[in-house]
Amino acid sequence: MKISVEIPAAFRLAPLVQKTYLVDGELREWTGALHSVYSPIETNGSPTYLGEYPMLDEAAAMEALAAAEKSYNLGRGKWATMRVENRIEHVLRFLKAMKEVRSEVVNYLQWEIGKSFTDSQKEFDRTVEYIVDTIDALKTLDRDSSRIQKEGGVYAQIRRGPLGVVLCMGPYNYPLNETFCTLIPALIMGNSVVLKAAKHGLLLMYPLLHAFKDCFPKGVINIIYGDGPTTVGPIMQSGKVNVLAFIGSSKTANIIKKQHPFPNRLRSVLGLEAKNPAIVLAHADLKVAVQECVSGALSFNGQRCTAVKIIFVHESIAAQFLELFNQQVEALKIGLPWEENVSITPLPEPHKMAYLQDLIDDAVSKGAKVVNRRSEQAMTSLVAPAVLYPVNDTMRVFHEEQFGPVVPILSFSILDEPIQYMVNSNYGQQVSIFGTDADELSDLIDPLVNQVCRVNINSQCQRGPDVYPFNGRKDSAEGTLSVSDALRVFSIRTMVATKDTDLNRKVIGEILSQRQSNFLSTDYLL
Ligand code: G3H
Repeated sequence: MKISVEIPAAFRLAPLVQKTYLVDGELREWTGALHSVYSPIETNGSPTYLGEYPMLDEAAAMEALAAAEKSYNLGRGKWATMRVENRIEHVLRFLKAMKEVRSEVVNYLQWEIGKSFTDSQKEFDRTVEYIVDTIDALKTLDRDSSRIQKEGGVYAQIRRGPLGVVLCMGPYNYPLNETFCTLIPALIMGNSVVLKAAKHGLLLMYPLLHAFKDCFPKGVINIIYGDGPTTVGPIMQSGKVNVLAFIGSSKTANIIKKQHPFPNRLRSVLGLEAKNPAIVLAHADLKVAVQECVSGALSFNGQRCTAVKIIFVHESIAAQFLELFNQQVEALKIGLPWEENVSITPLPEPHKMAYLQDLIDDAVSKGAKVVNRRSEQAMTSLVAPAVLYPVNDTMRVFHEEQFGPVVPILSFSILDEPIQYMVNSNYGQQVSIFGTDADELSDLIDPLVNQVCRVNINSQCQRGPDVYPFNGRKDSAEGTLSVSDALRVFSIRTMVATKDTDLNRKVIGEILSQRQSNFLSTDYLL
C-alpha cells in the first residue's frame, strides 16, 4: 500500500509555539520548559512537528487553583451568585466565539490525534449542539425551580447551587467534546474551573483561549498544561477541589482521587475504560450484525471507550460471520485524516503500535490466528486492523481494553459463556446483542441490564444521543453524564425555607417583588 503525503492546502498548518495559559482572567506567558508536539501523521518519513506547549510547574498550577478559589470566594463570588439567565448570556457569547474558530480546531483534531476530517467536524458540531442543549436543559431546570412550594406549613424554594472548584480533565480521543461535556455544565452551574488539557489534542485549545478569557469573569475558567504529577498532584493534595471531572483510565483516576485529603468533600464524575462485548446470536441478521460490529469495533480505529472490544459469535454462524466481517474490514480505507472515505487513520499514542503488536503476539502464541488479510504498514502510526480468532480467556486481549484496531472474536455454544464474561469483567459499560428471536433476546436483556448500563439491540455501542444517560458499572464510570444529568452532577439541591407566618409572608413577598435576591426569585426564564 502506498499512501500520499501531499497535504491539501486547506489543511496545512504552521508550527505553533504556544507559551500561553489562562489564569485569573489573564493569558500569561510561560517562560519555563516547553513540550514538543508531534503529529502521528508522518510527512517526511517521520512524525510532523506541530509546535510546543507549556510544561507548567507546581507553582503555576497552584496559582490557577488559587484563582478559581478566589473567584468562587466560598460561594460568594460574582459567578456563583449570578442569575442563571446572566450565566447563560456568558456561555452564549463563548459559543459564538467558539464557532468562529471551527476550522482551526477541526484541523488540529486531524493533526494532533489523527481523527478523520469528517469525524473531526462531527466532534466540533456535536460539541456546539451539546452546549445549546445544555442551555435549554438549564432553562427547563430553572423554570421547574422558579416556584415557591408549601408543605407542612413551610414555604420553600428549591434550586440547584454550585459545588465550588472543579478540576476538569478530558481524554485524548475526544479532546474537545468530552472535555466540554463536563466543562460547560460545570461552568454554567456556577462553579469555578481549573481545566488541565488532555495529553494529546491540546494545541486545539489555543484558538479558544481568548474566547474563554473574554467571555467569563476572571478566575472562573483557568486552563493549564503540563504533566499530571507536577500539576494535578499538588492541586488535589491541597484538598481544595470539590469536584473531579475526569475522563480517562481507572488507574489514573484512582491515583488522582486518592491524593485528595478529604474524600467526603470530593465529588467525582468519571468516564473510564470499558470492554464492551458484542453477542451475535444464532438467529442474528448477519448483515446488520457485521455492519454494526465493524463500525462498533473500528470507528476512530477502535479508540472509543464505547467501542465493541470483543465479539462472541454463536458457533453455528461463526464461519459465515468471520467471512463477512473480514470482507468489510478489508474494504476499510486506510489513510490520512483528510482523505475521502478514510476509516483507519494514524494512532496518536507513540507506544500504541508496540502494545497492539504485543497483544497480537500473545494471542497468536496461545492459539489464535490473524484471520484477515492485513495490508502493509505505510506509516509507523498507521496500523491495519487485525482480526483475531479464536480468542480465549488465557489471552491478554480477552481481558485488556485494546483501544486500537485489534478485534478479538470467539465463538460460544451456550449463552452462559458471554454472560459469565460480563459478570466476571472489571468493566460494565455497555453490550450489543444481535438477534431476531424475541424470546432469545429477552432471555439476555434481563440479566444484562444489571451487568452494564446500556443494552444495545442490533446496534453498536455508543454514547449518543447525548440526552441519554452515559455511565457505567464497576471500573467503567462513576456518576452519569447526559445533557441534563451533567447539570445535576455539578450542582447540589439547596433551598430557602420559612414557616408560614404573617412576618415571613411579608418579608418574602418584598424580596420577590423587589427582585432583591438572585436565588429567591420567581422569575420565569423563557
Ligand atoms: O470514548 C468514549 C466516548 O464517550 C464514546 O463516545 O460513542 O459517541 O463515540 P461515542
